[in-house]
Amino acid sequence: MTSSFSTIFVKKMFSVVPASFEIVNHLLTFWLDKMWRKRAAKIAAQTEGILWADMCTGTGEMAGHLSRLAPTGTRIYGIDFSLPMLKEAKQKPKNKGIYFVASDIKTLPFSSECLDLVTLSFASRNINLNKDILVYSFSEIYRVLKPGGSFVNLETSRPKNSLIRWCFHLYVRLFVKAIGSRISGSRAAYAYLAKTIPRFYPSEELAGLMRQAGFNKTVFEQHLFGVAAIHQGIKSWDKIIG
Ligand SMILES: C[S@@+](CC[C@H](N)C(=O)[O-])C[C@H]1O[C@@H](n2cnc3c(N)ncnc32)[C@H](O)[C@@H]1O
Repeated sequence: MTSSFSTIFVKKMFSVVPASFEIVNHLLTFWLDKMWRKRAAKIAAQTEGILWADMCTGTGEMAGHLSRLAPTGTRIYGIDFSLPMLKEAKQKPKNKGIYFVASDIKTLPFSSECLDLVTLSFASRNINLNKDILVYSFSEIYRVLKPGGSFVNLETSRPKNSLIRWCFHLYVRLFVKAIGSRISGSRAAYAYLAKTIPRFYPSEELAGLMRQAGFNKTVFEQHLFGVAAIHQGIKSWDKIIG
């Protein structure tokens, strides 16, 4: 699944949408994105350890959910390569106490085996410029996690049922581009969204890509008949010892 988009295009796209980004997401998903982030944060927060990072944090919504669930003393980082998105994240009072850092996910500013938890929400599609880049990014997440650490990924998915898939993709084609570009003023960003959602991997295949990156214990749960999925990968001790 190779895309015709480049890192420069994706970076530029996320520099023009920050102000309207959250409201457009909520409108287009009937606020389900918020519910799915909360669910992913709840799964993630069961992880032991106090060094957490939300990669491709955008406006810091997932990082904010994590901070509400985190035990006292937890340090949370929000990482993104878009400075305008990070600026939006930083100015939210509820994100106070989160350390926002500018970085590309492919070259994370962490030493190996230092984090307990990594989350990634609605961004694996953006990283997926091609399959190798996605697997490489997942392996960078694997590198920075401690043994026993957990990676939780939330993304749109591909429903198995052909009728549901057809309805979902029709909705994306008809409404995502039209509504998104009208509210945000960015045609490119929502044309991109409408193009990449139907092409993204089914849940089983995404779990396979996580395994390729090193996460040999991988589980997932699907939401709204497979329209979205939350994957969890554990950096297991067995693999390191064995
Ligand atoms: C669709 S937004 C999702 C933001 C947030 N995680 C959420 O749930 O709303 C994708 C984010 O990923 C960031 N991003 C895309 N590719 C990246 C990369 N290679 N390295 C770091 N950030 C990246 C973009 O700047 C953008 O903020």
